[in-house]
Amino acid sequence: MRGAGGCWKRLRLRGRRRSSAAFLLAWAACWLGLSASLLALLRRGAFPGRCTDESGRSILARLCLDYSSGVLTGDLCEDLCVAQKLVYKHCLYYDRGKKVIQADWRGQPIILKSKQEIFSSYQHLSMLEEVETQDITETELLLMAALEVKNVLGLELSNNTMGPLWTRRKGPHWKAQVASMWSLLQQEEYIFFSLLQDFSKHVLRIIGSCGHFYAVEYLTAGHAWHKTLFPLEDMAGSSLTGHRSRVRAIIDIALSFLDMVQHFDNDFSHRLHLCDIKPENFAIRHDLTVVAIDVDMAFFEPKMRDILEQNCTGDDDCNFFDCFSKCNLKVRKCGAQRANNNLQVICDKIFRRWFSPSLRGPLVSFPLQPQLQKAVQECAEPGRVDAAAHQRPLKSLSKLYHLLRVSQRELLRAE
Ligand SMILES: Nc1ncnc2c1ncn2[C@@H]1O[C@H](COP(=O)(O)OP(=O)(O)OP(=O)(O)O)[C@@H](O)[C@H]1O
Ligand SMILES: *[C@@H]1O[C@H](CO)[C@@H](O)[C@H](O)[C@H]1NC(C)=O
Ligand SMILES: *[C@@H]1O[C@H](CO)[C@@H](O)[C@H](O)[C@H]1NC(C)=O
Repeated sequence: MRGAGGCWKRLRLRGRRRSSAAFLLAWAACWLGLSASLLALLRRGAFPGRCTDESGRSILARLCLDYSSGVLTGDLCEDLCVAQKLVYKHCLYYDRGKKVIQADWRGQPIILKSKQEIFSSYQHLSMLEEVETQDITETELLLMAALEVKNVLGLELSNNTMGPLWTRRKGPHWKAQVASMWSLLQQEEYIFFSLLQDFSKHVLRIIGSCGHFYAVEYLTAGHAWHKTLFPLEDMAGSSLTGHRSRVRAIIDIALSFLDMVQHFDNDFSHRLHLCDIKPENFAIRHDLTVVAIDVDMAFFEPKMRDILEQNCTGDDDCNFFDCFSKCNLKVRKCGAQRANNNLQVICDKIFRRWFSPSLRGPLVSFPLQPQLQKAVQECAEPGRVDAAAHQRPLKSLSKLYHLLRVSQRELLRAE
């Protein structure tokens, strides 16, 4: 991260000279550096620390201090800092700067998140210091937001789909608004979720923001060590405690996983690849919809191709977490096309846990258990290199849909 920090500093200097083309170029270069150092951090593995109530509360107090002095703003600031309608509950997670805080907003549980604890830890927008704030036009801001999107998602979006990132109008608190927006735009996850809000029920809802903190819906997150992966007993108004209703819930969740696979494969202009599939990275809503909550390793096709296309001496060099391609030994380059797919990995890392008996014996007994087990096994098995390999995912998907729907009907009939 240190290297990237230096880069940003240079960028600020260059920004002072106000050559916007050079500024934007340098900016793009910094982003590349930053992404690389982020990846290095992720590879090393991050060790979460403890977050006490005391530090959780003081983080929000600090946020409100900055709000009252007009440094930052956002649609939730008033509720958090003045009306007390957004109330601290506890601190869930603390990793380096990253904070995840649980709170209550008008009776609804929410999560507040920020990659950095303190507002001033985010890069300043040098433009804000040197030109009169009122001189920054919305066009310039839109252009900057578009560049961020290009860097984070690898997508070039048209101006009108950038709406969720930039909706506010010039007003009395323009400077605080721009500074706040800028701090949010430095958080990849915020960009990702904001842009997909209106297109997908399988991504986390963003409720609002105050300064560098954004609020998302509170959901029931998965846990690898949990018997049913998702703690159904934790869900409010839980009628999911009996054996039969637990079986039914797991089938509903499995069907929602299939919907999500289908949706991420087909419904965006580019396929969305999930390269870190584990229970912790998904959560469920009350209606048992599966939601992706950690998208650090989610990439649209163009970015996926960039990531995969590396030099190689063997297939092992072409693995990127749950996404891999093959090494072309003639040119010593990994194929840009991913060789496996989201469904295979979900079958392997999620469905097997439910539908294949473990040493501890079957988790619960499903209708059609043997058929489900076989279908999951076939789905998880990496496609052998044969002519029909590309059709396999589709076949697996429809087979699983079929078996799960039949199971669902049988359970209903047995009521
Ligand atoms: N919307 C949510 N609802 C409920 N719990 C959540 C939510 N978001 C995050 N959590 C909890 O907080 C934890 C950390 O959140 P998050 O996954 O955002 O951190 P992270 O730093 O991205 O994790 P990692 O270090 O694995 O990438 C999660 O494991 C989950 O238990
Ligand atoms: C977005 O808007 C800016 C400014 O209005 C314009 O210069 C640019 O061409 C637009 N881009 C697209 C993709 O529409
Ligand atoms: C990959 O290999 C090419 C040709 O052998 C070489 O020029 C290039 O620098 C290598 N790239 C990396 C990232 O190692």
